[in-house]
Amino acid sequence: MKGLILSGGKGTRLRPITYTGAKQLIPVANRPILFYVLDNLIHAGIKEIGIIISPETGKEIKEAVGDENRWGVGIRYILQKQPAGLAHAVKTARNFLKKEPFVMYLGDNLIGARIGGLIETFYKDRADALILLKQVENPTQFGVAEIGRYGRVKRLIEKPKKPPSNLALVGVYVFSHYIHDAINKISPSWRGELEITDAIQRLIEMKRRVTSHILDEWWLDTGKKDDLLAANTLVLDEWIKRDVKGSVDQESRVMGRVVIGNGSRVIRSTIRGPVVIGEGCQIEDSFVGPFTSIGNKATVLNSVIEHSVLLEGAEVILIDRLEDSLIGRNARVQRYNKYRAFRLVIGDDSSIEI
Ligand code: TTP
Repeated sequence: MKGLILSGGKGTRLRPITYTGAKQLIPVANRPILFYVLDNLIHAGIKEIGIIISPETGKEIKEAVGDENRWGVGIRYILQKQPAGLAHAVKTARNFLKKEPFVMYLGDNLIGARIGGLIETFYKDRADALILLKQVENPTQFGVAEIGRYGRVKRLIEKPKKPPSNLALVGVYVFSHYIHDAINKISPSWRGELEITDAIQRLIEMKRRVTSHILDEWWLDTGKKDDLLAANTLVLDEWIKRDVKGSVDQESRVMGRVVIGNGSRVIRSTIRGPVVIGEGCQIEDSFVGPFTSIGNKATVLNSVIEHSVLLEGAEVILIDRLEDSLIGRNARVQRYNKYRAFRLVIGDDSSIEI
């Protein structure tokens, strides 16, 4: 069993954050989403992983992930010249995948479960495709599956107007080599992409065995700001353990599950977990409340922050209350006492709620 992580794509939905970087590298609890994906594949015993990259963000992904020395498994980068669809990505990886079965995992998806059981079911059912499904409230916005007996998949429909079920496709799949035949038989959809849903539908028509597993745990497609904040909350809630390495002065209080990285300084402040603070940060005269992640070298002065994500080098200064916010790399939010006016320099596609 091989692993194929899709880490190319355009990432338009998370702009402006993704103007300066790949969305798969956006941190959740200060760790790139892609790393959780790698962890999950490696934990399932997969020894060879291919990572689809794009010309725009490939270099950045390679630098962040590194090679097999870091992960203890084979890592191969595969360049997809254009984001021509998930099935196109599989086609691009054909030489790497050869005839082996593989797990395909979207590099911006986070799930609250291990995938080992999924692989077992795939083998036990002698399936050619196993798809992961999750009950959602708004199935019209997803790829949706119609399921028969024993979890067999009867039909897949992209964003249906009248959904046959509330079971949406999660971004993790297991395939046998027959998926390549199916992909060779499909043509681009109305949006010009080779769709994996069309390829799986084709597998069903080819009388190949397509089965499913319903995910009980959480799933987040971190493509949007609110999803990213939700992912941050879940990961902080479930996976964080207290680990204070930085310095905390006598006048500060650090309560609950809080991580403070090396070289960070907390001065006259209160930190109430779950919170993750990276390395080399400065937190002064502030309150950092639950479900906040603060990236390396960030600064928080005279402010109150809750339920927010600050990326590397961000600065929050003199802000009475910042919540539900995502602050990009090296971005600064600062109140000027003297003026009642707002003085803003806002990048393209930004959004500010005052
Ligand atoms: P999507 O979220 O479907 O597409 P996108 O990255 O272009 O995003 P947006 O809608 O925000 O513009 O992609 C899911 C994952 O698959 C994501 O990690 C990018 C990756 N991907 C590829 O590697 N190759 C592709 O051709 C496509 C479409 C996506």
